[in-house]
Amino acid sequence: MELTQAIHNRHSVRQFTDQPVALTDIQAILTDAQQAPSWVNSQPYYVHLLMGQPLETLRQEQARLDAVPTKGTPDVPLVPRRAWSARAQQNMATWSANLGDAAQLMGPAAARLYNAPAVLYLTLPAGYANWSLYDLGAFGESILLGAAARGLATMTAYQFVKYPELLRRYVGIPADQKIIIGIGLGYEDHAAAINTQIKTDRQPLDQILTVHD
Ligand SMILES: Cc1cc2nc3c(=O)[nH]c(=O)nc-3n(C[C@H](O)[C@H](O)[C@H](O)COP(=O)(O)O)c2cc1C
Repeated sequence: MELTQAIHNRHSVRQFTDQPVALTDIQAILTDAQQAPSWVNSQPYYVHLLMGQPLETLRQEQARLDAVPTKGTPDVPLVPRRAWSARAQQNMATWSANLGDAAQLMGPAAARLYNAPAVLYLTLPAGYANWSLYDLGAFGESILLGAAARGLATMTAYQFVKYPELLRRYVGIPADQKIIIGIGLGYEDHAAAINTQIKTDRQPLDQILTVHD
């Protein structure tokens, strides 16, 4: 797939099919993503891949917590919407308003971890430099695009990382690593309403671009 096609085809998928993903495909995607740039080539991130029975166990445990519901305590602290910039708040409000009926589908889909057959947890060593967050983001986007190029769907979500202690217990992520984000990986269920109903747009380029010529 052409790079520009992969960029535009990629979107967040909130319901995956039951089809498993081959470990070799995930390894190839990650190897490609390792080409992402990083500060002084520090490559500060780690990846924890969860699939098979360990993922099913975690899915059950997380669904149990979500059912209560339980407050998320992610390693990267949550920032209340009112503390974001006015423009970011506006974009978030537009996204929420555009959800329409699909809003009701979000909670149950999230509680099932979107039925993802594989989840990548991206972590950084405790005490990481802020620059490493940029590097991890670049690595993460490369994973998404590499997956899209191979016909795989992805879901980047806070939902995966809201209970870090659960992940430390069930995934075995060491205490000296901060869990930054999770990416679900699999094949899109094209018939699922939650996938067909949610469309996102982007603000006009001139809202973010200032040309100093
Ligand atoms: C760091 C991060 C965390 C996210 N967490 C969630 C989440 O918990 N639940 C969710 O439904 N979407 C989540 N998303 C997906 C965004 O809503 C989505 O990327 C955005 O609306 C743009 O849509 P697109 O990815 O389909 O282009 C997250 C995205 C990012 C980058």
